[in-house]
Amino acid sequence: MQIVHTLAELRRALKPAALRAFVPTMGNLHQGHLDLMQLARQEVDKRAGDNKHHSGGMTVASIFVNRLQFSPHEDFDTYPRTLENDCAMLKANGCDLVFAPSEKDLYPDPQVFKVHPPAELSDILEGAFRPGFFVGVSTVVHKLFNIVQPDLAVFGKKDYQQLMVIRRMVQQMALPIEIIGGETRRAEDGLALSSRNGYLSPEERAEAVQLSMALKSLAAAVRAGNAAGELDVEAIEAAAMQALRARGWQPDYLTVRRQHDLSPVSGTCAEPLVVLGAAKLGKTRLIDNLEV
Ligand code: PAF
Repeated sequence: MQIVHTLAELRRALKPAALRAFVPTMGNLHQGHLDLMQLARQEVDKRAGDNKHHSGGMTVASIFVNRLQFSPHEDFDTYPRTLENDCAMLKANGCDLVFAPSEKDLYPDPQVFKVHPPAELSDILEGAFRPGFFVGVSTVVHKLFNIVQPDLAVFGKKDYQQLMVIRRMVQQMALPIEIIGGETRRAEDGLALSSRNGYLSPEERAEAVQLSMALKSLAAAVRAGNAAGELDVEAIEAAAMQALRARGWQPDYLTVRRQHDLSPVSGTCAEPLVVLGAAKLGKTRLIDNLEV
């Protein structure tokens, strides 16, 4: 596995005729990221083997803590930078090339051209609580796509709204990249793995599973309501938020949405749905979701 930092080094390291799979990350990797890396490896090997036009496959991961997607009060400065350990894990999980640029490499001058996703996707849910987040994510992902020029890219379903924004950006900008969603990896108790779980105290870590449990109950209430032909979405969302509040959490949202476009649901609904939640436990903000 090769590790490069500058755009020039990366361009030299990319094998021109190889089918390329890409996993963008901010580092501080956990098993969830490694699952995405393994998925990229499997997909690229399978497809390169089937396609005479490609001389093999190549997997690329990026590690870059992207200032553009952090609000001023968020954890940009304290976000763990663990490059050596991350590279060792990537190497053991099928990565061929790591692109780990510095801020000066990726943003040599202030990034004034930005990608603005539509408000109906980026001002709701995460975007409502983290203004500018999806502009920052879309801008860096678009730029990384231009630099790495992958044939396919893998993103986790844990960041459900992010995955949807990226899919729409790729479709609207006609980028020739297939976007693959990887399943959320959970700890044994059900907590979705996240780099930010490392901020939790032992007591908070024990409590943290309650977010996924609240989403499970919400999903069960949706299924029961749909089966009974009577679903009061507002009431079950409010009850889920209240249950977490009573345990000392500060929930931003627990909500039932359509999988297709994350639009709200007001009653029984035959379309595929997803329940999504974001809540603060102490100083740590966690997000999770479950497809219903
Ligand atoms: O999901 C992440 O880790 C980041 O948002 C991403 C996609 C690497 C962009 O910085």
